[in-house]
Formats: sequence, structure tokens, C-alpha cells
Amino acid sequence: MAEHLTVVDHPLVQHKLTLMRKKSTPTGQFRRLLREISHLLAYEVTRDLKLVSKTVETPLQEMQSPVLKGKKLALISILRAGNGLLDGVLELIPSARVGFVGLYRDEKTLKPVQYYFKVPKGLEDRTVITLDPMLATGNSSAAAIDLLKKAGAKDIRFVCLLAAPEGIARMKEAHPDVPIYTAAVDQRLNEVGYILPGLGDAGDRMYGTR
Ligand code: URA
Repeated sequence: MAEHLTVVDHPLVQHKLTLMRKKSTPTGQFRRLLREISHLLAYEVTRDLKLVSKTVETPLQEMQSPVLKGKKLALISILRAGNGLLDGVLELIPSARVGFVGLYRDEKTLKPVQYYFKVPKGLEDRTVITLDPMLATGNSSAAAIDLLKKAGAKDIRFVCLLAAPEGIARMKEAHPDVPIYTAAVDQRLNEVGYILPGLGDAGDRMYGTR
């Protein structure tokens, strides 16, 4: 099995993440940077996908050439901030199937409340890549993965941009079989569950709300 936590410390990822953290970075640039980083995260999270040989005919001759094995991947965006990662990952894996899990965080309890769930059929036969930029308390991520497992998913990976140690620990406890891919692990959560130093509210920053 893959490591439980992979920090994608590629210099391009780190440089782009620094630009995203700056509070002066405007919405359009924030979104573009997230899309660019998501390509590089997608590259890492798909590194171990299995291949099979297929016969193809080049203009010169027939050959055996590798293609991805099995059913199309499923990308699951945890709304709404997951969509910022989804756009970029879909550019790299355009034939992937896409699902959405809508959970909001109750401001008082910090516990996740489900309001939407729509995922592709046949999750049990697909590699499922779950997308949420901020792994903070880990409560909503763990709850989303509970739902995906109930829907049949077995090979699940989790991709985020930033992770707090608290969220990593929560995920490891709830879903030790789900490897996490992140661009950085930050210091801690503040009293209202935001990641420090973090980058603020990812959804607000990518959509210009608030
Ligand atoms: N969600 C965010 O968007 N930012 C955080 O810091 C924590 C959760």
C-alpha cells in the first residue's frame, strides 16, 4: 500500500503555493494557481496506476503499447472548494467520471452536515480520487470517505492542497487505508478550525465570495 501521507514537495508546487498563500493574490490568479498545482498533484496521485498492453498501429507498424487498466477513474469533489482542484485534474484525466459530495461545516460544532451526494456507478471497480483543498479538522473528509465506502468504493485516495496535523491524524484514525497527497503540512488549526498559517478560506478565495 502507498504511504499514508505524501507531501508533493516539487519546487513548482511549493512556489505556486506560496503565491496562493499571499493575501494580496487576487481571485483569478488564485484559481489559476490552484489549477496548475492540481496538475502536479494529479501526476503524483496517479503514479502507481496499473497499465495493460494494447495493440496499436502506428503509421509504420503494429506494436504493443500501454494504456490504463480497468474502469475509468472516479474523481470526487467535496463541494465547493473541491471544484477548484477538480478542474485541473480533469484536464489531465479528461475521461474520468465525476461525483460530488456536499458537506458543510457546522460553524459551532465543526461537524460535517451532508446536503448533496451524487457519484458515478461502479465505484467498487474504480480508483477513486477525492478532492478537497483544505484538510483541516478532517471531520468532513472522513465523513465524505465514509459515504464513498458505503457507496462501494475500495481504492480511495485523498488529494488536498494544505493539511493540518489534526486532519491528518483524524484521517489516519478513521481511514488508514486512504493515502493522502498534499502540497504542504501546516502548523495547526486555530480556534475556529482554520489552518495556520494556511491561506484563508479556499472557497472564498477561489470564488471571490465574502
Ligand atoms: N477550510 C478552508 O477553506 N480553510 C481552512 O483554513 C480550513 C478549512
